[in-house]
Amino acid sequence: MNTTSPVDCKSWPQLQHHAESWRDVRLKDLFENDVARSVQFTADAPGIHYDYSRQLMGAMTLRLLANLATERGLPEWRDALFSGKEINTSEKRAAWHTALRAGEHAPAEVKDTLARVRKLSDEVRDGKFQTVINLGTGGSDLGPRMVVDTLDNATCDVRFAANVDPHDLNRALRGAAPESTLIVVVSKTFTTPETMANATLAKRLGFGNFYAVTSNVEAAKSFGASEILPMWDWVGGRYSVWSAVGFAAACSIGFKRFQDFLNGASEIDQHFATAPLEKNVPVLMALAGVWNTNFLGCATHAVLPYSNALRLLPAYLQQLEMESNGKRVDRRGDTVGYATCPVVWGAEGTNSQHSFHQLLHQGTQIVPADFIVAADADRVLAANMKAQADAFAFGSDDGQYPGRRPSSTLLIEGTDARTLGRLLALYEHKVFVQGIIWNLNSFDQPGVELGKVLAKKILSGGK
Ligand code: F6P
Repeated sequence: MNTTSPVDCKSWPQLQHHAESWRDVRLKDLFENDVARSVQFTADAPGIHYDYSRQLMGAMTLRLLANLATERGLPEWRDALFSGKEINTSEKRAAWHTALRAGEHAPAEVKDTLARVRKLSDEVRDGKFQTVINLGTGGSDLGPRMVVDTLDNATCDVRFAANVDPHDLNRALRGAAPESTLIVVVSKTFTTPETMANATLAKRLGFGNFYAVTSNVEAAKSFGASEILPMWDWVGGRYSVWSAVGFAAACSIGFKRFQDFLNGASEIDQHFATAPLEKNVPVLMALAGVWNTNFLGCATHAVLPYSNALRLLPAYLQQLEMESNGKRVDRRGDTVGYATCPVVWGAEGTNSQHSFHQLLHQGTQIVPADFIVAADADRVLAANMKAQADAFAFGSDDGQYPGRRPSSTLLIEGTDARTLGRLLALYEHKVFVQGIIWNLNSFDQPGVELGKVLAKKILSGGK
C-alpha cells in the first residue's frame, strides 16, 4: 500500500500550479457564469445532501484532487479499513470501528456485547437505577455525551464527568443517591488518571454501584465493577461510541434508538465503500479540506451546526480530527513537509454569529466552514444559516467586503438517532481519507503521552 509522500504524487505539483489560477476568483462570478454550479457541486449520501458549491474550486480542481486520492491508493486503503487489516501500524492493530455497526456481519464478540448493552440498559430504564453517571474522558466521554445531548428524551437521568477537577464530579453527583445511582467507568486502558481519580473519589463518597467498559478486565475487576463490558484493542477511543462505550447513551435513548444510530453509520459505511470518488461524500469533504489546507493555505476549519441539538458536535470533531491527523511525522516516521490537520473549532449557530463570525466575515484569515442544518430546522434558523453562507461566499453588493470565504453545507434529514449516526460516520471517513492523503497513521496518538508523563513527574515532586 502506498506510504510515499503525497508531494511525490504527480497531481501534487499540478494542484499547486492550479491553485495559482484561483487567487482572485470570486465565488459571485462563478455562480453568475455557471447556472448549474449549485447542482453540479453537490453529492448525496443516505439522509445527507452535501453542497460544496461555495468552495473555491472548479471541475478541474475536483479532477486533480480525485487523481491525488487515486495516486495515494485510497481504494486499497479503504478495503484494508473495512476488512480489519492492521492499518494502525505503529500500534500493530486494526482500526475496525466499522465492524461495530456491521449488523449481521459483525464479529460474534460485537453481537454478544451489544446484546449485553441491550439487556443492561433495558434494566436501567426499567427502574433498576434512577441516575447513570458516565466517568470517562476523550473518546470515553465525548461520544456518549454528544449522543445523549442530541437525542435525550429525559426517560433516564444520564450525566457525565470527565475533568480531573473534582468540581466536575461534584456537579454530576449533585442530588444523586448512592443506592439508586449507577456509575459507569469507561476507560479502554482503565489507567487514565482523570477517570481513575473520579472513580476513586465517587467510591470514597459512598457510591457503590459500578459497571465498567474497558479492555483491561483485570483492573476493572479489582476496582470492584459488578458488570464489565468489553472494548477491543482494534477500536480507538475516538472511534468507540459505537461500542459498549455508548452504554450510557443507550440508557438515555433506549436500545432501539441506539441500534438506529448504528444502522445510520452502517449506511454511510456502504456509501463510502461503494460510491465513485467524485460522488462519495466523505471523500469530497476530505478533498475540499485538503484543497483549502494544502493549496489555499487555510490553517483552521470551523464547524457550524445550525442546531441546538448538535451543539456538542464541534467538541466531538475536535478529538476525532485533531487527535487523528494532528501529526508531524508520516507513516514512515519522516517529518512531513506539508500541512496536515487544520485546527478544528466551532459552535452552534446562531450563537456563533454573535460571537466569532465577525472574524469569519472580515478577518485577515480565511476560515473554511462546514454549515450543518436539518431539513426540519426552524425557518428562522435555516434562513440565518443560508444568509451566513451567502455572505461568506459573495460578500456585500456594495463591494465593501468581497466574500470569497469558502464553505460547504450538509443538509441532514433531521436530528434523529439514525441521522446522527450517519453524520458521525461521515466525518470518521473524511478523517480517514485525509490521513491517507497526508500519509499519516490516523489511529495512534503518541503526542498525548508526553504530557501525561510530565504531569506524573511533577506530581511525584519532580520539576
Ligand atoms: O487523550 C488520549 C486518550 O488516549 C484518547 O485517545 C482516549 O480517548 C482518552 O485518552 C481516554 O482513554 P481511556 O479510554 O483509555 O481512558
